[in-house]
Amino acid sequence: MPSNATVADGFTLTENASLRDRNTLRVDARARWLGEVHDAATIPALLDHATLRDVAPLLLGEGSNVLFVGDYRGAVLTLKTRGVEVLPNAGDDARIRVAAGERWDDFVRWTLAQGSPGLENLILIPGSVGAAPMQNIGAYGVEVRQFVESVEAFDLATRQTTTFTNAECEFGYRDSIFKRNPDRWLITAISVRLPRAHTPRVDYAGLQEELARMGIDKPAPFHVAEAVVALRTRKLPDPAVLGNAGSFFKNPVIPGAQAAALRHEHPQLPCWSAADGNTKLSAAWLIEACGCKGLREGDAGISNRHALVLVNHGHATGAQLWAFAQRVRDTVHARFGVLLEPEPRIIDG
Ligand code: FAD
Ligand code: EPU
Repeated sequence: MPSNATVADGFTLTENASLRDRNTLRVDARARWLGEVHDAATIPALLDHATLRDVAPLLLGEGSNVLFVGDYRGAVLTLKTRGVEVLPNAGDDARIRVAAGERWDDFVRWTLAQGSPGLENLILIPGSVGAAPMQNIGAYGVEVRQFVESVEAFDLATRQTTTFTNAECEFGYRDSIFKRNPDRWLITAISVRLPRAHTPRVDYAGLQEELARMGIDKPAPFHVAEAVVALRTRKLPDPAVLGNAGSFFKNPVIPGAQAAALRHEHPQLPCWSAADGNTKLSAAWLIEACGCKGLREGDAGISNRHALVLVNHGHATGAQLWAFAQRVRDTVHARFGVLLEPEPRIIDG
């Protein structure tokens, strides 16, 4: 049972809190302390709270990209801050600042309803706004880096508030300066710039076909959003029904020569060219080729809809899910010589 809930202006602090409803893999883990911040101005006061003074906090959004291997013995901090602010335009471009605690999908839908397109391919990605720059969320040929103007964060090392420009975020494929330094900066808000002159991106595999099925040949941004929603709903299990964290592994990026050799042996292997002469491979294809799609050991498994999605069929523990995922990774490595890297953050301790 949770105990010692402390409610102060702008935050609550609970001891021995359940995390089960705070991670989409539905792992039944607990946190020694859970701090929920409703007003970003109270972050220093929360950190100065007697119980947290010597504890390094773990930052959590909506838990859609984490795997708790076991209970967390420290303090989990989560932002519930709200607010969307329209900033002065830059030329014709719309600029919007949004609080980290807002839901990403709500924000995308709000921008589209305002007539500010750009984010339509990123609709229905679960999670908070604050986590979006963490791994530079991406889908259907678009990444959030294309629209982020700046990221505001509270530096837990210096206790200063700092603003990162787009370049300072060092965005990459499922990567950023924040992802490489977890729990250093608590992201409190982001500002995006949405160009008025915008042509929707529809070249990602399957998107054009979906639009054609809808009978659309000149797609407006809201058509693209509708098509992406249809594709995602068909391909990915809904975490509200079956615990999962989306893609469990990143698509591996390997040297071009190694990819060419693999393609020679496996002509069906989907590949995309990446920076610096490298090639990105489809991790889902590699996993499926190993016969792991739909595989289940106890309550840990791989979705039968998408081979990249680790699922919790009910009561798998974090340790069981992680052990199962590592077996899948080892199977792919033994067969193809490619080491898959988890996309979600693995939290052990
Ligand atoms: P969490 O899972 O809570 O945290 C993720 C990481 O961010 C952790 O390291 C955490 O410490 C850190 N973090 C969270 N909030 C903050 C903050 N305010 N400040 C600093 N650090 C913070 N991702 C994609 O890129 N593309 C997809 O298409 C996609 N599809 C998905 C589909 C499904 C069904 C699911 C379950 C997940 C999918 N994801 C996808 C992954 C996930 O939605 C994103 O990574 C999302 O941004 C995570 O948000 P969150 O709030 O749940 O973050
Ligand atoms: N494929 C298989 N088996 C499957 C599923 C897919 O072989 O079960 C192959 C197919 O050849 C397919 C290819 O993989 O054409 C690519 O599949 P998909 O379009 O579903 O994309 P993905 O590479 O598996 C990535 C992201 C997703 C994102 C989609 C759409 C990563 C790790 N994942 O998946 O992001 O939604 O593209 O853009 O880059 C996430 O990060 O959590 C996530 C869901």
